[in-house]
Amino acid sequence: MAETTAQDQTIITTNHAPANVEVDTSYEDDSSYGDELSSYTASLTSSVLEYRHENGRRYHKYRDGSYLLPNDESESDRLDMLHELCLMVLHRKLYLAPIKHPQRVIDLATGTGLWAIDFADEHPEAQVIGCDLSPIQPSLVPPNVKFLVDDIESEWAYEKDPFDFVHARYLAGSIKDFGRLVKQCYRSVKPGGWVEFQDFDPYPASLDGSLHGTGLERYHNEVYGAFEEAGYEVRPGPKLEQWFKDAGFVNIHVEKFILPYGIWPKDKHLKTLGAWSQAQAEAGYEAGALAILTRYKNWTKEEVIALASQARADARRRDLHMIYYFYIVYGQRPEH
Ligand SMILES: C[S@@+](CC[C@H](N)C(=O)[O-])C[C@H]1O[C@@H](n2cnc3c(N)ncnc32)[C@H](O)[C@@H]1O
Repeated sequence: MAETTAQDQTIITTNHAPANVEVDTSYEDDSSYGDELSSYTASLTSSVLEYRHENGRRYHKYRDGSYLLPNDESESDRLDMLHELCLMVLHRKLYLAPIKHPQRVIDLATGTGLWAIDFADEHPEAQVIGCDLSPIQPSLVPPNVKFLVDDIESEWAYEKDPFDFVHARYLAGSIKDFGRLVKQCYRSVKPGGWVEFQDFDPYPASLDGSLHGTGLERYHNEVYGAFEEAGYEVRPGPKLEQWFKDAGFVNIHVEKFILPYGIWPKDKHLKTLGAWSQAQAEAGYEAGALAILTRYKNWTKEEVIALASQARADARRRDLHMIYYFYIVYGQRPEH
């Protein structure tokens, strides 16, 4: 653990990474969503549900084209696996920030909403909002959670009624301007409130060089390279700390975890994490590559499927020892 103080900002860094190794789609009753929703009427119009269908996958319609992964059932299953993976990394904790009695909480880009639902169950005293471009969250949810369709990259209307806790997980490849987003979080959290981002550096590495020259490496270079060219932030994890500092947060904590792909590690915990990483990645190779490579790089669907198949085949090789990193950064808005 390293502790440094820069001006009034204390940064605590904990490195856990060893150097080796659906919504209620009916949307009929708007009134139950409260005042916030009045500014998000777009969320309740049927056009939000007129999804884009392309190359056999389904994509969000609200702010059409801004998010490049599908929102169909197969992708929802992958996000649910990812939720489980993150819980395993954190030994079943949903967050690490030292929040106390939160009343108002938001989960940005909530996806299938599992984090928001679990948080609402754990904190019945809190009112939890989960927002996303896609209304893909379940309809049977705890009474203290509400889902909204909203674009977190546009101007927010939350400053007048700020939160105790803002949470965002896995926005790699979703957002273009993270710095601005983190500043919006700062402005929309109460003095003394906390903001926590959990995100990846998904570029694959191998501590022993075994990934070099493989189809898996090519897949990531092609796909992440195209996302970066299109202006999306693909590797937010290691940059979160700086964005939190720039926004003015104090008591910033940075926690870094290693994640293996596959069951190659000897360590039982890492082996389990590796199995879940691989399962969610296998479900995501085509999903992650189809829109970016066909819309931005003129690839055919067949070319993308071939790239993804090779990546999937490589990911099953026991002699490839791929890893990536997961970061959790939380910080507090000063009391005064
Ligand atoms: C990779 S998923 C992560 C979902 C969820 N946070 C989780 O951890 O399971 C990214 C999510 O961000 C949403 N998203 C992308 N851009 C967004 C934006 N500008 N505003 C709101 N949601 C957005 C997508 O619809 C998708 O559900």
